[in-house]
Amino acid sequence: MEKTFLMVKPDGVQRNLVGEIVNHFERKGFKLVGAKLMQISEELASEHYGEHKERPFFGELVDFITSGPVFAMVWEGENVIKIAREMMGKTNPLEAAPGTIRGDFGVTVGKNVIHGSDSPASAEREINLFFDQKELVAYSKQD
Ligand code: CMP
Repeated sequence: MEKTFLMVKPDGVQRNLVGEIVNHFERKGFKLVGAKLMQISEELASEHYGEHKERPFFGELVDFITSGPVFAMVWEGENVIKIAREMMGKTNPLEAAPGTIRGDFGVTVGKNVIHGSDSPASAEREINLFFDQKELVAYSKQD
């Protein structure tokens, strides 16, 4: 079954949106198979956002993601990577549709509440970066 990495960013944790966001994906029918509240180090932030290293906002990105606790999660389900991205909405909250997480709760492109893997390759990379396989659970066959 497909898995994706989702993370409530420091602004979302600070604003007490963790429960609301978990609830959103649970109601959709996805399974939470790994989760932890954690503080990201500068090393982990640089690795996670490695593809943005040359961007002018890279420093800002690392400063923000290390500014307070995040809630890192692994979710499982059919087409969860693509569907979770749809549920999150566009990166820029100005363009994110109402009803999406960023559309409803985000204000700026930097502080946009949630991160989600954008492809199977990045899902695998990000899950392995944040979680040990031992930290992930398997559900029984019942729905
Ligand atoms: P995320 O999905 O976590 O991945 C990269 C992040 O870069 C993205 O969400 C945005 O929060 C952030 N980002 C993109 N463009 C900008 C920008 N112009 N200024 C600050 N942050 C940005």
